[in-house]
Amino acid sequence: MSTPTMDDAAKVLADPTAYADDQRLHAALRHLRAHNPVALVDNPPYRPFWAITKHEDIMAIERANDLFLSEPRPLLSTAQADDLAKAQLEAGMGLRTLIHMDDPHHRKVRAIGADWFRPKAMRDLKVRVDELAKRYVDRMRDIGPECDFVTEIAVNFPLYVIMSLLGLPEEDFGRMHSLTQEMFGGDDDEYKRGTTPEEQMAVLLDFFSYFSALTASRRANPTDDLASAIANGTVDGEPLSDVDTASYYVIVASAGHDTTKDAISGGLLALIENPGEMQRLKDDPGLMGTAVEEMIRWSTPVKEFMRTAAEDTTVRGVPIAKGESVYLAYVSANRDEDIFDEPFRFDVGRDPNKHLSFGYGVHFCLGAALARMEMNSLFTELLPRLESIELAGPPELSATTFVGGLKHLPIRYQLR
Ligand code: HEM
Repeated sequence: MSTPTMDDAAKVLADPTAYADDQRLHAALRHLRAHNPVALVDNPPYRPFWAITKHEDIMAIERANDLFLSEPRPLLSTAQADDLAKAQLEAGMGLRTLIHMDDPHHRKVRAIGADWFRPKAMRDLKVRVDELAKRYVDRMRDIGPECDFVTEIAVNFPLYVIMSLLGLPEEDFGRMHSLTQEMFGGDDDEYKRGTTPEEQMAVLLDFFSYFSALTASRRANPTDDLASAIANGTVDGEPLSDVDTASYYVIVASAGHDTTKDAISGGLLALIENPGEMQRLKDDPGLMGTAVEEMIRWSTPVKEFMRTAAEDTTVRGVPIAKGESVYLAYVSANRDEDIFDEPFRFDVGRDPNKHLSFGYGVHFCLGAALARMEMNSLFTELLPRLESIELAGPPELSATTFVGGLKHLPIRYQLR
């Protein structure tokens, strides 16, 4: 692995193509952790930001949620896209999800959906998730002996789960699938609807029109599902605004889908590339809990979130001025040599495993228990039935600074 220069290393974080090249990305992150863990990145078309690459610093920033705010820049996008999102919000039709909000409003809005992700709700959902896991492993057997595991299996299973939780009809699944991909794979040419921010915004408007109709129907006829909880949710006794309601569906549908797909397919690739670990897990299914956690660390589907300083402050002694933004490099935190023994080793028994793939603090992933359960069900169904598996072509990563992972994983296998 060649050593990048300091400037190159920092710029890599603001270059979507770097996320499609693991070697290049990790070489840069390793360099930053060792030599410049609070690095100023100035790489147009992005506005400048401070890249935070040490696990300890990311946790400290997320813990200080009254000093480091999600508003107005919760994630990395180009200056043009930042401006457009702001203008849309001011016009009353932008996106303001949980990840855009700060306390105390954030806490109240989060509480509306939270019951649907608690252990009791997860236990109630488990039968359905197990059933879906079996359905997808059966499908994999039926379409074998080769498939693209990402597009034919990993993408559909979590979408089905999240749509079931929301209570949406099966005939809408295809539409939701392409919308979430267009929305989250925004930087990658394969998923883009168009090249301009306006065309990207059209994706959002499609989401909004679909979910506005849903809100109206669930307000008129509430049912026992998450969509009804959102449609009828209140903050301080008032119903959620139209923007907040539509945004809630958007965050659940989109955050619950691509992220889990990336962790499932990244996890399978790690098992294929580490056959000893795959055998270890097959021999001892009791390791499934730690194995799933390791797959989530290894794949780190959410590459970053950002926070903006509410006051002048410092991180690791580096001054950060009020209004400047910090980029929380989860991919880097999850390979931090100070936290993980041999961070570049995939270990299905890794314990402890303090990865930051689900973030930390008040914004900690609402769907973490659901994602873990889905992965547990799928791999518990798949592994005992898998007689052989190998790559049938090169795996391909998506080019995105936000949520991403494998977009193609061609495999050849024998499945009972
Ligand atoms: C392996 C799969 C997943 C990963 C890696 C992941 C990762 C994350 C991360 C990093 C955050 C932000 C945390 C922070 O800022 O500290 C987040 C927030 C969130 N996630 Fe997930 N997520 C996954 C699956 C899911 C699922 C299945 C759902 C279900 C709907 C979900 C719903 C959410 C929501 C609603 C938030 C916003 C929470 C808030 O801001 O209060 N996620 N997720």
